[in-house]
Amino acid sequence: MHVVLNQKGGVGKSTLTVNLAAVTAEAIGTQPDGTPSVLAVSVDPQGSTSWWADRVGDELPFLFTQAHKDLDGLNRLSKVKGVRHIFVDTPGWLDLSEDDSSADPLGDGRAAEILRAVLDNADSVILPIEPEPLGFKPTLRTIKRVVEPRKLPYTVVINNWDPRDGDVDLKQTQEFVEKSCGHLARTVIRHYKLHARASAEGVVVTQYPANRVALQGRQDFDKLALEIALNGASQ
Ligand SMILES: Nc1ncnc2c1ncn2[C@@H]1O[C@H](COP(=O)(O)OP(=O)(O)OP(=O)(O)O)[C@@H](O)[C@H]1O
Ligand SMILES: [Mg+2]
Repeated sequence: MHVVLNQKGGVGKSTLTVNLAAVTAEAIGTQPDGTPSVLAVSVDPQGSTSWWADRVGDELPFLFTQAHKDLDGLNRLSKVKGVRHIFVDTPGWLDLSEDDSSADPLGDGRAAEILRAVLDNADSVILPIEPEPLGFKPTLRTIKRVVEPRKLPYTVVINNWDPRDGDVDLKQTQEFVEKSCGHLARTVIRHYKLHARASAEGVVVTQYPANRVALQGRQDFDKLALEIALNGASQ
């Protein structure tokens, strides 16, 4: 089970969750009865992934469940029959500090419990960040406070890099990650308008039209999925 996590909002957690689930589902195929073998889970009560999954409808290539209140369900996830990979989307605004019991954005005392259940069942963590060196601190805090204490393998993935902006920020971000934690994915997810429009259009990356730009956008997710599959638990 891969948990997509970052205390910083808007860095691409939902985008990575959905599209990694899509390319992985296509790569490993369905169960004999046609049921997908990949499950995406959202514990973000804002439900943007849920909205996206609804818009894709019957064509969604993976199973999806919204579970921000379902503690028991989260603890049983690894036992869902026939599911071989799980990607979990988390909210950006959770206070992830273990010692802060006032962190309760759900208002019912369960937010910290839900996050703990997700992390207790995780095999690895994927942390998307944007190529802005100044924005790296919240990510580092997430790593130091939440990921490293649990000794979970993790990968930091630079997302939303627009090659038209040049590579100064990209390089600085890469250096910063290498120096401060070293778990940087080789794959960079580039910025494409197609990704930004996908949820409203009700498509996931494997359903983009077969033109050059769309294939480039898709290639990034294929590469990232392969990298995670090959490196995942070894880091
Ligand atoms: N590689 C990309 N190319 C283009 N747009 C992107 C890319 N990655 C993310 N976006 C867009 O940036 C916005 C934020 O992405 P997303 O919703 O995935 O972030 P998030 O971390 O899940 O945010 P939140 O913390 O609010 O849940 C969305 O509008 C999304 O479509
Ligand atoms: Mg999100």
